[in-house]
Amino acid sequence: MGSATLQSAELTEAQFGKIKTLVKSLCGISLGSGKKELVKARLNKRLRALGLADYDKYINLLRHDQTGNELTSMLDAISTNLTSFFREADHFDYLGQKVLKRMAADTAAGKTPNRLRIWSAGCSSGEEPYSIAITVCNSIPNLKAWDAAILATDLSTRVLNRAKEGVYTAERVKTVNPQLRSRCFNCIQSRPDRLYQVNETLRSLVHFSRLNLMGDWPMRGLFDAIFCRNVMIYFDKPTQGRLVERFWEILAPSGTLFIGHSESLTSLRHHFRYIQPTVYEKA
Ligand SMILES: C[S@@+](CC[C@H](N)C(=O)[O-])C[C@H]1O[C@@H](n2cnc3c(N)ncnc32)[C@H](O)[C@@H]1O
Repeated sequence: MGSATLQSAELTEAQFGKIKTLVKSLCGISLGSGKKELVKARLNKRLRALGLADYDKYINLLRHDQTGNELTSMLDAISTNLTSFFREADHFDYLGQKVLKRMAADTAAGKTPNRLRIWSAGCSSGEEPYSIAITVCNSIPNLKAWDAAILATDLSTRVLNRAKEGVYTAERVKTVNPQLRSRCFNCIQSRPDRLYQVNETLRSLVHFSRLNLMGDWPMRGLFDAIFCRNVMIYFDKPTQGRLVERFWEILAPSGTLFIGHSESLTSLRHHFRYIQPTVYEKA
């Protein structure tokens, strides 16, 4: 089978419907009809890699995928992983100046233990949890004396592998101010392109793990803050509603939920207190 033939594998409405149903049941992502061409372009790469001539064969393979490896690769190909350091920067200001400042003061006054747990749910290639880690290091005096950890999870193993390495191009770290960049990153390669690695102190704060938000959550203990930004946008309203309810349950009292700037809880039933656009608190 020539690669030209494989490249042009057609995706019929019926085949797209089957893939849509499978993706929705696996990870909650709702693929609208406008996504058909995008799905085709992304999955054609999987067909080529597997040497399959058409989507019926691919769907059959997915349905009998005992190891789950191809299901993982398919979700890796489907998911959108756009992210950047300090994306939606006001969230990091709020985290540092309100949430962490209050926690540090309460702890210094002996009111609360020096324990901090933050979850970056849908962390993509790591820019979000490392931006959280930088904010934590800058906001909590004497952090070494704290039991602090940031859990960073994603569905996609491809982005998680990059996140764990914590290595970024000069272009990616451009959104970090130069002072922070020199404190928080080590330049590990100058040529042909400059590469920066997040320093060891920050990396040791962040724990990466694969987790499907639609599945079980094995975490013990409550979180002081959850970042789930630009993830729910891919889910339908009932799925968003259930997820927000689960976030409420796993947050500590007064815990903060950050969602993406184009997202809102307005049309969902929930118990959160509205603080400011895209920032909510467990009442
Ligand atoms: C657009 S990125 C957002 C990254 C980051 N939170 C930000 O705002 O910059 C969305 C991420 O959500 C992940 N995702 C989508 N569905 C998921 C699910 N069911 N469980 C876990 N992660 C999921 C995708 O793999 C992707 O990395």
